[in-house]
Amino acid sequence: MNAFEAEGLVKRFGRTTALDGISLSAPPGTVLGVLGPNGAGKTTAVRVLATLLRPDAGRAAVGGLDVVRHPARVRRLIGLTGQYASVDEDLTGAENLVLVGRLLDLTAREAKARAAALLADFGLAEAAGRRAGTYSGGMRRRLDLAASLVGRPDVIFLDEPTTGLDPAKREDVWAIVRRLVADGVTILLTTQYLEEADALADAISVVDHGRVIAHGTAAELKRVVGGQTVLVRPADPSRLAEAAAIAEAVAGRPAESPGRDVVTVPVPGDAAFTEIVRRLDAAGVAVTELSLRLPSLDEVFFTLTGHRADEQPEQRRDEQEDAA
Ligand SMILES: Nc1ncnc2c1ncn2[C@@H]1O[C@H](COP(=O)(O)OP(=O)(O)OP(=O)(O)O)[C@@H](O)[C@H]1O
Ligand SMILES: [Mg+2]
Repeated sequence: MNAFEAEGLVKRFGRTTALDGISLSAPPGTVLGVLGPNGAGKTTAVRVLATLLRPDAGRAAVGGLDVVRHPARVRRLIGLTGQYASVDEDLTGAENLVLVGRLLDLTAREAKARAAALLADFGLAEAAGRRAGTYSGGMRRRLDLAASLVGRPDVIFLDEPTTGLDPAKREDVWAIVRRLVADGVTILLTTQYLEEADALADAISVVDHGRVIAHGTAAELKRVVGGQTVLVRPADPSRLAEAAAIAEAVAGRPAESPGRDVVTVPVPGDAAFTEIVRRLDAAGVAVTELSLRLPSLDEVFFTLTGHRADEQPEQRRDEQEDAA
């Protein structure tokens, strides 16, 4: 049995279809990465699974329990860390966790002990007596994660747990996630960071416009793109367009510009690489970087959706209007 399972979920808000038949599931003790751009429906799907929102159609279950029919029982199995930290700023770190424990029917003594253990685990012991309002973003995020673990959940929903954290803090959260999984917890992790899904997830569901557009391991998804990727960084950035045109002509696919002075293009094999090198040389385009490598998840996402994972919603709206 899957630790959680959503099948054909539909959820509309007025004219917006947030979920359009999305299906997600994970076997016990694994991490499902749910990867998608802003507005893809990640938070909405998590809220349905966490019993906070009723779907218009489809079904969802946690630990075999239907989330609509047995919300109270489901809540006992899950921990939820929201995209927006839900700590009470006027309470200390310790008070926040004790409060959660009391809400979960722990005795005062149990709640205190649990809070102290978690604060120590999350490197917050020294800050335990300080108001959460004085915590840094990373400390808040850790406190929020700790709060979701007070009830020793079997299944944890982490909605963009590392958004806005610096790389070192992100690694801290990753370490916590890995430890939880080692303890047998099942995790649904939404993210816009492809390297995060790559690093943590056993399986990845790529979500766009409220449905799953691809599912597999990171390696399987990378194979979707096929072949390899050529990267060209011209020595003279003003010749970027020229380099892109050469790469596109050889590859027969649109090139992407992941940085201001660099282009990448998927190629079917290394013969295309040789041809690109030859044509760059013939055109006198000098380069500071030139490589052939397997595709990144970023490129996988671009290939699948036609847009970048970290694209802003405004850009997407323009795109949707263009398409309409
Ligand atoms: N309560 C609501 N009322 C109206 N529209 C909503 C509501 N919740 C979500 N939506 C809309 O549903 C769509 C999906 O939103 P959702 O928050 O699930 O996306 P997301 O993938 O979590 O995005 P992000 O990466 O920005 O967090 C969006 O168009 C959003 O504006
Ligand atoms: Mg969200």
